[in-house]
Amino acid sequence: MTAPRVVLVGPMGVGKSTVGALVAERLGCVYRDTDDDIVAAQGRTIADIFVDEGEPAFRAIEKQAVHKALAEHEGVLALGGGAILDEDTRTLLAAHLVVYLSMDVEEAVKRTGLNTARPLLAVNPRRQWRELMDARRHLYTEVAGAVVATDGRTPEEVAQAVLDAL
Ligand code: S3P
Repeated sequence: MTAPRVVLVGPMGVGKSTVGALVAERLGCVYRDTDDDIVAAQGRTIADIFVDEGEPAFRAIEKQAVHKALAEHEGVLALGGGAILDEDTRTLLAAHLVVYLSMDVEEAVKRTGLNTARPLLAVNPRRQWRELMDARRHLYTEVAGAVVATDGRTPEEVAQAVLDAL
């Protein structure tokens, strides 16, 4: 059975892509991101999928993409921030080495700003961030074998902390 060397979870904007690419480079393996898989397979942006079909349809597409990547990828894999909302996915993640990249709400607001390309932050980013984090923090923790705080750290420092946690 193939399996990713490490799976990165955490909220959008925490740096999964940047850190994941650095970790993959250090491990000499390939980086993959389930958001990219979805965009490639669907031929449209994630924001467009939300607008065209709504969040539940996006979550179904996401679940399929995540399960496929978990089954076939052998490098570093980053999941979209909401992938852990799915119970089957959380169950599957129990068999993998999962690292949760965390950040606090103020750091999240600072990093993503008023970026309306992110469909879940389009109205009131600070309030929406607080609600998202309150709803998800325990799910990230549940699936993770290690937690790496990213607040005030460079991507290189975070990548090193991930490698140290493996
Ligand atoms: C989402 C996170 C995004 C993307 C979508 C929904 C979420 O992925 O899947 O906008 O629910 O947190 P990133 O975490 O890669 O930005």
